[in-house]
Amino acid sequence: MLNAHRRKFFKQTMLAGSAYLANSWFGRGFFAITSPPDIARVVVDPSRRIAEIDRRLFGSFIEHLGRAVYGGIYDPGSKFADSNGFRNDVLEEIRSLGVPIIRYPGGNFVSGYNWLDGVGPRKDRPRVLERAWNSVETNQFGTNEFITWCRAVGTEPLLAVNLGTGTPETAAALLEYCNVDKGTRWSDLRRQHGFEQPHQIKYWCLGNEMDGPWQIGHVPAREYGLKARDAARQMRTIDPAVRLIACGSSGPFMPTYIEWDRQVLEECYEEVDAISLHRYYGNAEETGGDTTKFLAMNLAMDRQIEEIIAVCDLVRGHKRSNKTLWLSFDEWNVWYRARSGKDVDGERRVAPHLLEEVYNLEDALLVGGLINSLIRHSDRVRVGCLAQLVNVIAPIMTNDNGLLRQTIYYPYAWALKYAHGRALDLVPESATYEIPGLGKVPYVDVAGTLDTGGKAATLLILNRDLEKAREVEVLWHEVTPNKVLGYQVITGPDLKAFNSFDAPQRVVPQALEPPKAAERMTFKLPARSYAVINLAI
Ligand code: AHR
Repeated sequence: MLNAHRRKFFKQTMLAGSAYLANSWFGRGFFAITSPPDIARVVVDPSRRIAEIDRRLFGSFIEHLGRAVYGGIYDPGSKFADSNGFRNDVLEEIRSLGVPIIRYPGGNFVSGYNWLDGVGPRKDRPRVLERAWNSVETNQFGTNEFITWCRAVGTEPLLAVNLGTGTPETAAALLEYCNVDKGTRWSDLRRQHGFEQPHQIKYWCLGNEMDGPWQIGHVPAREYGLKARDAARQMRTIDPAVRLIACGSSGPFMPTYIEWDRQVLEECYEEVDAISLHRYYGNAEETGGDTTKFLAMNLAMDRQIEEIIAVCDLVRGHKRSNKTLWLSFDEWNVWYRARSGKDVDGERRVAPHLLEEVYNLEDALLVGGLINSLIRHSDRVRVGCLAQLVNVIAPIMTNDNGLLRQTIYYPYAWALKYAHGRALDLVPESATYEIPGLGKVPYVDVAGTLDTGGKAATLLILNRDLEKAREVEVLWHEVTPNKVLGYQVITGPDLKAFNSFDAPQRVVPQALEPPKAAERMTFKLPARSYAVINLAI
């Protein structure tokens, strides 16, 4: 587009927009509209760039919990098992999804885990009473099996070290075991276990949710900060290439939220690269069961990210540091039903059914919104983990005869498939509704990406309006799409509809008639929907 055209275009769109722009601000790039127009408008300008998205933003998580490992990814007795005992159907599903990074082995589990129990000849590995979930851990699957599985899947491992019952020394020993070539105690042990080549694991979490009184080995912030600093120093000496993530707050519900992060970073800012965030959303106590509120919860994720960025940058200022930390949102999802009683108590069994949350349509819509929030903050959030991946609060469930895609599988799969390259700072305008505590919530929530070659663009759009389809107008600036390659949507009449092994297709994406590619495009977003539009430029 020529410059004169560009100026005219901008003038027109700005004039149109300014008639109903209000003062409220919803995170990056949301303008609230006081006299709600029926049409939502999005200006897409490739030069308004948030960041090149790190693919690790769309990672996931597998914990030694319930049937995630045993019966999920590893099941030597299954008809789907390969020669390693890995479930081949699950492996193929995750490989074709293209999950870029997977956190392991916990979660709460890691804080009581002795990694030495899970390496070496299987027959010598102990059966352990696992205390985070009160289960029996057979240790038949451990670090080397996980790395072998990751290589087969084509994903990167993100290992967490135990800083609960573990020490900086046991953490450093695990890193030495994994990453040092040879000639030292732990690297030679790995070789003895049949792994000549070092695993070269780059990303490491320094413990898990150490702020939580539920966490094995929980300590006050300063104590954890010192432990993390010691572990980080030892680990960097062993391998200077590692990326280290300190434990941040387990969520804004914590009484120590923000204070924990500040104190921890005051102790270990210079030694780490990032801090973690966790958050699970529910449509019960938090929302009173009101779905209009539930679907706005990704704005709370926006806010949490912005608050933790503020803490990181405050500590950077105090320390006059040249280093800027990035964030690892390494546990996020909807989780509120399978959260107490038998759902979290393994009763000393092997691979009990724990946290087997059944996801419905509205959960999938919020997961879509959460993906939009992550994309909008991809300048600071580099790692993200949908928690979790298989059988435990998961998009993929297994039984003896196969696997099931839960509703939340679909928005996650779209992010993996379509949200590539550059995250765009869009200029959306939408009518709003009021949610106490959150303020004015736009009905339409959009994120957009442009692939690295500039040849393909993607829009991911949530329509929070439960009753009405919403008209959307997209105004392209500088580039004009040649063709709309696809317009898919997840929606349905029943927000509580879910998939099951008996009815696996109740909630699946539908292909809609793609809008015509043009500099100014309009299309209808169905009520209560999450959509992906991908375009050739
Ligand atoms: O993902 C389930 C659990 O949630 C994890 O073990 C823990 O880190 C979090 O509280």
